[in-house]
Amino acid sequence: MNLNIGCIAGDGIGPEIVREARKVLDKVADKYGHSITYTDILMGGASIDVHGVPLTEEAIAQAKASDAVLMGSIGGDTTTSPWYQLEPSKRPEAGLLAIRKALNLFANLRPAVLYEELAGACPLKEEISAKGFDMMIMRELTGGLYFGERKTIEENGVKKAIDTLAYDENEIRRIAVKAFDIAMKRNKKVTSVDKANVLDSSRLWRAVVNEVAKDYPEVTLEHMLVDNCAMQLVKDPAQFDVILTENMFGDILSDEASMVTGSIGMLASASLNDSRFGLYEPSHGSAPDIAGKGIANPIATILSASMMLRYTFDLDKEADSIDQAVKQVLKEGYRTGDIMAEGCTQVGTEKMGDFICERI
Ligand code: IPM
Ligand code: MG
Repeated sequence: MNLNIGCIAGDGIGPEIVREARKVLDKVADKYGHSITYTDILMGGASIDVHGVPLTEEAIAQAKASDAVLMGSIGGDTTTSPWYQLEPSKRPEAGLLAIRKALNLFANLRPAVLYEELAGACPLKEEISAKGFDMMIMRELTGGLYFGERKTIEENGVKKAIDTLAYDENEIRRIAVKAFDIAMKRNKKVTSVDKANVLDSSRLWRAVVNEVAKDYPEVTLEHMLVDNCAMQLVKDPAQFDVILTENMFGDILSDEASMVTGSIGMLASASLNDSRFGLYEPSHGSAPDIAGKGIANPIATILSASMMLRYTFDLDKEADSIDQAVKQVLKEGYRTGDIMAEGCTQVGTEKMGDFICERI
């Protein structure tokens, strides 16, 4: 099979971690008889430096022409980088929001897994972490507050800012269907998270999710209010399988869930549309403070490449080989600085990539 992959290396540690993920993909392709064509795509600060904007029409066209896009991370230090002197719509993050919208990437999958080998990094009490957890946060990605009408006006000399939270039933239905489909391949439980005690958009969310659930009799559905969910994530994360939620709640809860694993440098993500296309990126940011030092953890990006093989290309065996190699390297005690523990061997970005390749 020929895999046509767009590559957004991006900013900060992006280029170094994408380099390692590509190395791993090349190894997999070599072993299983596939070929890969990469197209480099500029986005974020890297695009601003060249074109003055975080995403060009050409970049969108390149992404659309690819089967899938592998991304590192975008953005810089918001207090010191000149990118943040620009108006908000020209900053690096605007490029990310724009590509999600342009490619209709409405389903964001963010797995939060407590790796057995890294249980010590979990900040929760041992009696909670001992149970382990493995959840998939499904965040709606192209609607809600982040894409609603917004403006800042002045009324009688008083400034007023307005953001709009709107969802129509079709937007809710399509992400709910994806969540139930994914639950069917996992532990068959969906927790739909909303604020239905206050928000109309949440009440519609709940009604539509209930409707979709009728087509999935094997899946257990529960509804949970978002504030309660924030508590439950630290109290008893093992109760969750698939968490289904709207854009902003998902943004916040997925950061919380990743922190609870204690190893955000390990967490992958996928943003999908209705076709097999997907944009795959680590859940962590661009870490400008350690960029170029060769110490960043490439595993989240490598696992994002594995998700790409699984979800876009249906290459489960190949994806498993990456996941197994990562586990093996951890078992052998190799760690980057962010997940370093007593008795382990600390390695840099490149070595970590090499070790994973060798075990594929
Ligand atoms: C994320 C990020 C983005 C978001 C920002 C950078 C716009 O926080 O992917 O979670 O809020 O979606
Ligand atoms: Mg976020």
